[in-house]
Parts: sequence; structure tokens; C-alpha cells
Amino acid sequence: MGNFLSEELINEIKDANEIIDVISQYIQVKKVGSSYKALCPFHNEKTPSFIINQEKQIYKCFGCGEGGDVISFIMKMENLDFIESVKLLAGRANIEINRTESLENIKRRLKEKSLYYEINRKAGLYFYDNLTKQPNPALKYLSERGITSKTLTSFGLGYSMDSWDNLMLYLQKEGYNLDDIQKCGLIRSNKSDGYYDYFRNRIMFPIFNTKGDVTGFGGRVIDDSMPKYLNSPETLVFNKSNILYGLNFARKNIRNGQIILVEGYMDVIALHQADFKNAVASLGTSLTEYQGRLLKKYCDEIIICFDGDEAGTKATMRNLDILSKVDCRFRIMVLPDDRDPDDFIKLYGRDEFQEHIDKSMSLIDYKIFLTKNKYPGNTIEDRVGLAKEVSNIIKDIKSPVEREAYIEKIANETGISKESIRLEVLDKVKSTFVYKNNLKRGSDYKRSNNYIEMVPLAEQKGHIIAEKQLIKFMITDNKLIKHILNNVSAEDFSVTEHQEIVAYLASNMDNMKDKEIENLFPHLEENINKILSTDIEYIDLNNTLDKYIVNLKKYKLLYNIRILEEEQHNIVNSSNLTEEEVESKLLDIGIKIMKKNAQIQKLKSSMKGG
Ligand code: GTP
Ligand code: MN
Repeated sequence: MGNFLSEELINEIKDANEIIDVISQYIQVKKVGSSYKALCPFHNEKTPSFIINQEKQIYKCFGCGEGGDVISFIMKMENLDFIESVKLLAGRANIEINRTESLENIKRRLKEKSLYYEINRKAGLYFYDNLTKQPNPALKYLSERGITSKTLTSFGLGYSMDSWDNLMLYLQKEGYNLDDIQKCGLIRSNKSDGYYDYFRNRIMFPIFNTKGDVTGFGGRVIDDSMPKYLNSPETLVFNKSNILYGLNFARKNIRNGQIILVEGYMDVIALHQADFKNAVASLGTSLTEYQGRLLKKYCDEIIICFDGDEAGTKATMRNLDILSKVDCRFRIMVLPDDRDPDDFIKLYGRDEFQEHIDKSMSLIDYKIFLTKNKYPGNTIEDRVGLAKEVSNIIKDIKSPVEREAYIEKIANETGISKESIRLEVLDKVKSTFVYKNNLKRGSDYKRSNNYIEMVPLAEQKGHIIAEKQLIKFMITDNKLIKHILNNVSAEDFSVTEHQEIVAYLASNMDNMKDKEIENLFPHLEENINKILSTDIEYIDLNNTLDKYIVNLKKYKLLYNIRILEEEQHNIVNSSNLTEEEVESKLLDIGIKIMKKNAQIQKLKSSMKGG
């Protein structure tokens, strides 16, 4: 047996062969939204179900199930084996392939990793014994902070003694050599002192990966010396940006689908002790995308609970960016008086903490909350400043109904009339529309949201006509408003401007006058006129009306199916799930899609029958 291609070399070759480029050499690839689609080259099809995920550099066909990375694509396409395919790709990227790693080497690296885990575990147990088997300042400190002995044991906390080489001598005695101990980050060396322990006179927090291996340590001082925390240096098994403290516990103790993300080691521990075992912390750095994806794998929603000071707020915003980027749901929890979770629990107890979880905020609420802190006074300047800034935040809310609710709330809080705030919001919305519409030349209606773009063009057309007709019915005959809104709501309309008009009609159903609409939506005047000038075939009013209503309902179902299909893509593309998890999730969603399709069939047949 000869040499093997090393993992690194294979990765290098993969990195040098962008999957879209490679696949595009064989078949025609089209960009649709954020993903890439093609007709599957491995089976016969008329509509594309072959999806390429550029971010993950993988492909998947939802028709025939074929999927993999750039190498498996070449294997299948060129009918080559693995090594031949890698060679072909290496050639394509001008990479020399005679750098191979022996099987020996690969085995050695795996052995090294498991040795480092073993040394770390030994060190952890040693620290633990130091802490628990005799009186020492660390134990005194922890018990003064209310940490129970059960918690000490669960987290495997420890104490690194006030000595230069205590741990080193112990590990040597256990048979490990200095080189390996240093590669674990447990000792360092310099010319004058030789080797010495990296952690000295600190409370030790072993950091576990999700499999339960000890990958590294955090160490806290017992007094006020600096630095307050010291983490293991990067090693073959420890990388700060890939690991989350407490995740090994949290993943088995998810509550209500949530994980609580806090700032510090001690926060995780205090929460755990108060039975919130779903808390995790990053190691003093802001969240990475990797950590975001890792969290998403285990829960549906992250509750961020950082300190309320300026640094905490900044870190929260950064983390929100990351979580949005990896498409992870989140809410923000704010504790009073800049308390951290650890202080808070000690002062107010677990029930109050739970109440704050229940009160945690959406991004919009959080932004409004921060704005309120900026304008705390009751002066005219503060109230105006608050109303203006909040209007700017509210304008980003997609749903008109939700927007209306916020307008009402802010009006109550500032004592500024709803109408004025509504105008302020619309003013801001308007300037965005003008901008967007200038960008979109040649389109005769304003498609300003994604909703509409997710459904095939043919469906869109009929649908938008249906929307316009329904609005026209409502405007020209106010008695029809109730009938129509019994069946569909403002949110069922796909065009933002239509949503606005319908939401307005809904809330002013009882005292409508034609003119008012145009006054209230000056920027929609053109749109409304267009709607009013659209021809309606008044043959059989009821039948026509119902046809449009059914159209809207059908559209909504189609949209929901699209969302479910996207979910399926995400599941298939997720590298975090086991085969079984993927199967069962796909099945669940498949059933949902079938149900929606059945509903569409029912709608269609109801139309034929009536
Ligand atoms: P206590 O002060 O004991 O309550 O700990 P804490 O976990 O609440 O610490 P703090 O809120 O001060 O800091 C939050 C987190 O930031 C810590 O858990 C560490 O991960 C990290 N951190 C704080 N200080 C330092 C430091 O000096 N060096 C490093 N590397 N990380 C730090
Ligand atoms: Mn703290």
C-alpha cells in the first residue's frame, strides 16, 4: 500500500475548485435568489431540482437524491474513482499531487489528538482534586460565591496551585513527556526558567466539546490580579472560536426550544445551578458564524442575555448580526441595573429570571428599548426625538398590522397622536419606495417584497390582478369590505402597497370615504388610481369575488409550500444532522407539503363545483 492523499491536500484541491464553476462546465446553472439551480445531469427532468449550495460547496438533486461535494460530482459525471477525480481536479487547478501523506501520518495525527484529550482530562482531574481534597483559597472563594459542591463536580471545576511546576511534575510522573504536555498548552518554556505551568493559582474551568472531551481550560484569578481570565492557547484540539462553554450540558437540557447565551463562565455556572441548564457562553470573544451554526443545530431560538452596559450592548448587536447571518432565531433579554445573570439570580432568584426570559424582546422591541434609553426624559425634545427614531425603526416592519400596533404603542407612550406618528412612518416608508421604484424601471406594478418573487410568474400575474380587483371591490363598494376580510386578511396580500391599503380599509371599515385613502397614502395615489381604472368584469359579482378570494388563498398555500421546500433544502444541505435526523425531518415536512397540496386541490375543486 502506497501513500494516501492527506486531508489537507484534498481540502486544498477542493478549495481551488469552486463547485459552481466546475458544475457549470458540464451543465447550465442558473442563479435563483441565493441558490443555484440546474436540470439534474443524473436523471431526466423538465423542471430543475438540482440545487447547488455555494456557501457549503455541495449539491443535491431533490428529484433523484444524488448529492455531494465537487469531488463526488466529478466521480459521478466522469465515471472515475475517488483518487482519479481528485487528480482531475488537481490538474484543473494546477496543483501538484505528489505531496501525499502516508497512512502512517494520518493515524499518527488521530493518535495525537486522543493523547491530548487524555492529558487534558488527567490535568482536569488533578485540578479537581486540588480544589476538593484539601482547604484552599479557590474553594473558599467559590463557596463564598454560593457555588455548591454538586455544581463543582458537575462542571469539574478545579484549582491550579500557586506553584511553578506542580502540574508538570504530576503529568511527567504519570508518564507523559514535556513535548506533549506543552502541545496541550499546559506548560510553557523560556530560556531563563525552563518549563513551567501555564495556569498558576487560578480557579480552573475545564472546557468540554460536545462529545465530552476536555479540549482546554479557562482559569480565573482568585484575587484582583490581571488578567482576570486566562484561556488555553490554541492547540491541535482547542480553538476558541469553535467552542461554547456549557454546550455539552445545554444540548441535553434545551428548554422550550431555547438556549440562553450569556457572557461569562460564571454566568453559565450560576444559571445551571439555578436549574437553567440550557446556558452557554463564548470564551470572552464575540460569536463566530461557526458557533452560530453550532447553536442552531441544537435549538430553535437563542435568548441573548448580556450585560446591560455599553460593551454588553455592542456585543449583543454583533452577536445578533452573526445569528441573522446563519439564519438563527433569537430574542434579547435585558436584566435591570446592569446585572449579569449570576448577580441577578443571587439577588432575585430563578422565578424572576424566568419572567425576564418570558419578557425577552424581538429585534424591533430591543431597538425601541435602546432608543427609549437614549431619550428618557419627558421634555418635548425627548418625546419628539423618540417618536422620530422609533418611526424609523417601525418603517422596517413588513406587516402593516404589526406596524399599526407599534404606532399605537408609541403614541400612547409619547403622547404624540397616532396620526402624526403614522405620517412620520409613512414618510420614511415613502422615501424607501421612491428609491426602490427608481431602481426598478419598466415594471408596471411595485413588487417590493420577496413574498411575491417566490411563486412562478404565471401565478403572480393572476394573483396581482386578483388583489387589485379585491381592493377595487372594497373601495367602490364599502359593504364588501367585511365580506372579503372575513375570508382573507391584509397579510394575505403580497404587494406591500396592497397590504397597506387593505390594513387601512380593515381598521376604518365602518367610516369609509373614498377620498380619505388617497390622503392617507399620498405615495400610493398613483397605485390606487391604477387599481380603480382596472376593468372588472361584473358578470356575476359573487362568483367573481369568490374566485379572487380563492386565488389569494391558493397563493398563500403556494407560498407556504415554497417555505417548506426551502426548509427541506436547508436540512439536506446541513452538515450537522445525522442521516436519520435528515430522513425524519424531511418526512415531517413532506407530509406538511402534501397537506397543503391537498388544500389547494380542494380549493380548486370548490371553484369548479361552484
Ligand atoms: P466573574 O467576574 O467571576 O463573575 O466572571 P464572569 O464570567 O462574569 O466574567 P466577566 O463578566 O468579567 O467576563 C465575561 C467573560 O469574558 C469571562 O467569562 C471570560 O470568558 C472573558 N474575560 C473576562 N476577562 C477576561 C480576561 O482578562 N482575559 C480573557 N482572555 N478573557 C476574559
Ligand atoms: Mn460575573
